[in-house]
Amino acid sequence: MKLCIIGSGYVGLVSGACFAEVGHHVTCVDNDARKVEMLLAGKVPIYEPQLEDLLHKNVAAGRLHFTTSTEEGVDNSEVIFIAVPTPPQADGSVDLSYIEKVAREIAAVLKPGQYRVVVDKSTVPVKTGEKVADTIRRYNKTDADFDVVSNPEFLREGCAVPDLMKPDRIVVGSNSERAIALMQKIYEPFMAPVLVTDINSAELIKHAANSFLALKISYINAVAQICEASGANVEKVADGIGMDHRIGRNFLNAGIGYGGSCFPKDIAAFIAISENLGVPFTLLKEVERINATQRDRFLAKVREALWVLKDKKIAVWGLAFKPDTDDVRSSVAVEIVRALVAEGAVVSVYDPKGMEKAAEFKVVEGVRFAESPLDAARDAEALIIATEWKEFQQVDLLDVKSVMHTPLIFDGRNLLDPATVRSFGFTYTSIGRD
Ligand code: UDX
Repeated sequence: MKLCIIGSGYVGLVSGACFAEVGHHVTCVDNDARKVEMLLAGKVPIYEPQLEDLLHKNVAAGRLHFTTSTEEGVDNSEVIFIAVPTPPQADGSVDLSYIEKVAREIAAVLKPGQYRVVVDKSTVPVKTGEKVADTIRRYNKTDADFDVVSNPEFLREGCAVPDLMKPDRIVVGSNSERAIALMQKIYEPFMAPVLVTDINSAELIKHAANSFLALKISYINAVAQICEASGANVEKVADGIGMDHRIGRNFLNAGIGYGGSCFPKDIAAFIAISENLGVPFTLLKEVERINATQRDRFLAKVREALWVLKDKKIAVWGLAFKPDTDDVRSSVAVEIVRALVAEGAVVSVYDPKGMEKAAEFKVVEGVRFAESPLDAARDAEALIIATEWKEFQQVDLLDVKSVMHTPLIFDGRNLLDPATVRSFGFTYTSIGRD
């Protein structure tokens, strides 16, 4: 099938590559000419495992094209996906101006006699689909024939390609049989269950799913606080409750809290949506509160051990909001580094993928970007683990101890084994366990 994807960010680019991989012809549209030039030159603007290979392979096969022209994409494709950012506003509600702009752009180039399906893939508040349809109708001068579909994306950064190629489910929200049939055809090669709903339910599923996952994380983090107060071990507790199939072990890893470009934004958005609808979802406020507490409690442990942070040399391993991504947006690791710098600590940071973006966008300032985990740890009076990169587990602890000034480790992600670390002579603090 011929598909167009407007917006070449994480969701748009990975979706485009995966659709092409299963045989569809995909035109990726982006209004950022620099980004399109980069993609045309075979360069990938984001780090995501497997993405580069997939892009190169499908461009070479002639199934994947890049352009800045919405008209070209819409003319050549029966189905048009919208995958543009929906950033948060100061009050937590969602900024839908990019979606509205794209809806107007599509309206301007829709021609009579060519049926088109406009699919919203971006995460949007319930009832956005109705607004997109109204906008296209209002700005299209030709009485064009189109349907609007909601098709939320559930991919996780760092494993976006496998998530997209082998999804747990595909949600298609529409009231048009014709549009639903086309969507089913697009997704047939993925061999995943397709849940068909009305548009509003599909839109709600995305916010409800992400909020539930965040709730699971805050739940185990609250349990971790009780473990710390009682001497229990949060990992054993998570195993014990996770073995119940109704609960499941996933997303029960205690730590310094969730971050990233989705959870903090989506939970705030769901709270704002519920308030606007007159049914405030107060449970989610507690989820947010517990999440913030995890970071503050962790910092308090560092302060408690080092007493005064000013002029203390502190190494931080990790900047990305989670491993296998270079994404440092809304990262708790970044918040921790900023807090340390603000208190006058001398911070050396190492992250396998996140440093370039952190430096380019000045996400953290006044720190030294180290060349390796060991280089970061040199002369440090404490080492903080803020992102659970596998690479950090492989560093020789004897080497770490020999370069550090004082052997203190604060493990915010429970990445290391306490007994092993202590056997090397470190003072070791982690989350919810001794
Ligand atoms: C999330 C959803 O998982 C995905 O379905 C949705 O499409 C987008 O938002 P993502 O933000 O890429 O994906 O990352 P995810 O793996 O879900 O992790 C989010 C945050 O939660 C990270 O900061 C991670 O460190 C944290 N987390 C995750 C925990 O603290 N504990 C856990 O057990 C799991």
